[in-house]
Amino acid sequence: MLRRLHSEQPDSFAFTPANQAWAEAQITKYPEGRQASAVIPLLWRAQEQEGWVTKPAIEHIADMLGMAYIRVLEVTSFYFMFQMQPTGSVANIQICGTTSCMICGAEDLVAVCKEKIAGKPHTLSADGKFTWEEVECLGACTNAPMAQIGKDYYEDLTVESFTKLLDDLAAGRVVAPGPQNGRYAAEPKSGLTTLIDFDSGKTQYNASVQLAMDIKDGVKRIQGDEVPLLTPWVGKDGVVAGRAAADAPPKAPEAPKPAAKQAEEVAKAAPRKSDAAEPASPEGAAEKPAADGQSEEGQPEILKEARGGLADDLKLLKGVGPKLEQTLNELGFFHFDQIADWTEAEAAWVDARLKFKGRIERDGWIEQAKRLQVGDETEFAKRAKEEHIYDDKED
Ligand code: FES
Repeated sequence: MLRRLHSEQPDSFAFTPANQAWAEAQITKYPEGRQASAVIPLLWRAQEQEGWVTKPAIEHIADMLGMAYIRVLEVTSFYFMFQMQPTGSVANIQICGTTSCMICGAEDLVAVCKEKIAGKPHTLSADGKFTWEEVECLGACTNAPMAQIGKDYYEDLTVESFTKLLDDLAAGRVVAPGPQNGRYAAEPKSGLTTLIDFDSGKTQYNASVQLAMDIKDGVKRIQGDEVPLLTPWVGKDGVVAGRAAADAPPKAPEAPKPAAKQAEEVAKAAPRKSDAAEPASPEGAAEKPAADGQSEEGQPEILKEARGGLADDLKLLKGVGPKLEQTLNELGFFHFDQIADWTEAEAAWVDARLKFKGRIERDGWIEQAKRLQVGDETEFAKRAKEEHIYDDKED
């Protein structure tokens, strides 16, 4: 199957504030320089939020992780779990078509999809509520035939029960996932033969079905208000264990603003200095200073180019990868001594122009730069040199 970007794409993408906070918490799970490892959970979250993975979402996530857009597109198109075209507003129905399910009637379920949803998979139904597709074994073979809808499994399906299920979902009724033939879970159809006394404390439904019924949601589970899953070394207040609050990673950003508002604010915040460097702005780069002869308050001294044409390797600063180094160069920073001299206000000026806010303080760039400018070597710089951390990476 050819997997490519859909011909129609939305203009923009932004995580909801809660999802943005969640996404940033995921990134903290990985060591510095390895943020790209969070690409799959972030793409998945974007899909849960939007129903499919859009081009703006791919670009947004690539920017968050300092990855090239093509890399994130490659991940998206490789994994079939990522939908690259719009899905039904209510659900995308995934029918298992592998051996057990096929023997037990999966083809009949596909016929129902063709009749009630659309003749071809990955095609929106007339009312836009559903799409369907055939997938490989979902590991519920004992309860074949089955379908996955959202995060839930609907098992032991028949044409009748599946048809009713689609009608209930279309009507907005709460449906109970799990076996649709009266089975509790995956016990023999003729009843239990072992563990027959294992009934104490049994809930009406098996655990996963009970959860769906308790929250009255048999399709989606993302409500947008989950507490971000932080790594063990990051507390709920965002403070890293053993560090002062000032060293904590950045808090979740404010709610995304409309594009026009953002553009207006970016224009207002654009730095100004006559000797500003003016390289072309690559994707994901911070806003560069404008060259109209004025210096903005808090703006540090910047250079048009590296002194003597020889820039310091800013990647020796923990927290600065190739992408951030490029951004710093474009802002006019090429040397450790420039960074070492930043005042608090100047660091804030630079920080406001970086994609990942709070990094300067969190990673202690200024303290690191002070040591590196006098030839002292930090532990990170030593390791970066020894292990060639950035030699074959983009960021
Ligand atoms: S064959 Fe359908 S779940 Fe395994």
